[in-house]
Amino acid sequence: MTLYASLAETLGARIQQGFYRPGDRLPSVRALSLEHGVSLTTVQQAYRLLEENGLAAPRPKSGYFVPANRETPALPAITRTAPRPLEISQWEQVVELIRTVPRDDVVQLGRGMPDIGSPTLRPLLRSLSRISRRQDMRGLYYDSIYGTDALRQQIARLMLDSGCQLTASDLIVTTGCHEALSASLRALCGPGDIVALDSPSFHGVMQTLKGLNIKALELPTDPIQGISLPALEMALEQWPIKAIQLTPSCNNPLGYTMPEANKRALLQLAQRFDVAIIEDDVYGDLSYRYPRPRSIKSFDEDGRVLLCSSFSKTLAPGLRIGWIAPGRYLERVLHMKYISTGATATQPQMAIAEFIAGGHYEPHVRRMRGQYQRNRDQMIDWVMRYFPPGTRASDPQGGFMLWIELPESFDTLRLNRTLLTRGVQIAVGCIFSASGKYRNCLRMNYANKASAEIEQAVRTVGETIQELDEQ
Ligand SMILES: Cc1ncc(COP(=O)(O)O)c(C=O)c1O
Repeated sequence: MTLYASLAETLGARIQQGFYRPGDRLPSVRALSLEHGVSLTTVQQAYRLLEENGLAAPRPKSGYFVPANRETPALPAITRTAPRPLEISQWEQVVELIRTVPRDDVVQLGRGMPDIGSPTLRPLLRSLSRISRRQDMRGLYYDSIYGTDALRQQIARLMLDSGCQLTASDLIVTTGCHEALSASLRALCGPGDIVALDSPSFHGVMQTLKGLNIKALELPTDPIQGISLPALEMALEQWPIKAIQLTPSCNNPLGYTMPEANKRALLQLAQRFDVAIIEDDVYGDLSYRYPRPRSIKSFDEDGRVLLCSSFSKTLAPGLRIGWIAPGRYLERVLHMKYISTGATATQPQMAIAEFIAGGHYEPHVRRMRGQYQRNRDQMIDWVMRYFPPGTRASDPQGGFMLWIELPESFDTLRLNRTLLTRGVQIAVGCIFSASGKYRNCLRMNYANKASAEIEQAVRTVGETIQELDEQ
């Protein structure tokens, strides 16, 4: 750990332990530099890191302060789920969402799109065009079925941040995280098998289960702690579960990060019952806390965790580049990847490898994390201002999605139909459940910089909810 990161950690711990209270002035840069025997620049870097993590806020000419407590709505309730494996429904609702393309006359709050307008992405665009102009034609060849070696080496290096000590040969590049997840499921399960899931859960996984005739056992999930471990233990005792699939860091759609102790306990359960874990880490690098949370994979000693991820949320989803670290299942996963897309597209792999090797990934992700955290606070403010009293909302710890819970009888399918005539799109809650639960919930994207247009769209959502509620 660098000197400034270690100083930021020390100060952050003091703030979190209540040594400094919300609104308190923090020690001056000079005082800290003398106290810790480090340069003024190191202290300034530490303060910038604390600022990014929302633990310190600068005031012009006055120094740094502990930010005042944020006002937040009540959290969604711990989810209740059917106590048996289910076949998946909801394809029609999912297709309604995923067939949409960007349109100038619709504010899309529904899709899982990051902000791709940041100047920190420009070197990637330059790499893409340089590669397509190069004379050696490498980008037009099939690359190895495992993926471009230069990219796999960079991914292995990035994964050190989540505590994973892997090499390029432990990784397979895939066509997005979607292919990583589906290759994992097909490698582990056959028709009629059961997969345990956190709930609500990413619709892409559930629709893959549907396509493969695999049943979903949804488990109660806490909006702060994640999947209920006692419920998982009971389910493992009762059902022949083949795999546990979950997104434990910066979850979509609930936004929580499972505490490290729960991640370790979950792995122990998987070992005891000898089941595999399919860990989706697609938002992990967008955690608002630095260092980012460790993955379950980082504790895995017997290769039972298949870690799936991609650059879709950190860079851009149109690149369609993801990866999988499949542990002991590597050969089977490779076969499943081969029969689904063969080799992954070469040019975007080369461009991303160049982008990371050029030192552009970390500054880009740091900037996006800060932006998404600020946007989260702004979005929550708007929800409190424009949504009816009693609205519950998640408190995301990373990524760019907010989960909203309305009173039990409210129907967000009807809400979405009305909103589309008013130029706003949301993601309806039922697509995040195997059986169409969460009809009273919705998910909103806050990736793009706050603007009057987005505020107006959120206001329209709130007003339409009130209007439909009164009918
Ligand atoms: C949790 C989760 N996993 C996987 C994916 C799919 O990622 P990709 O676009 O890389 O296939 C998404 C996209 O929305 C997601 O939210």
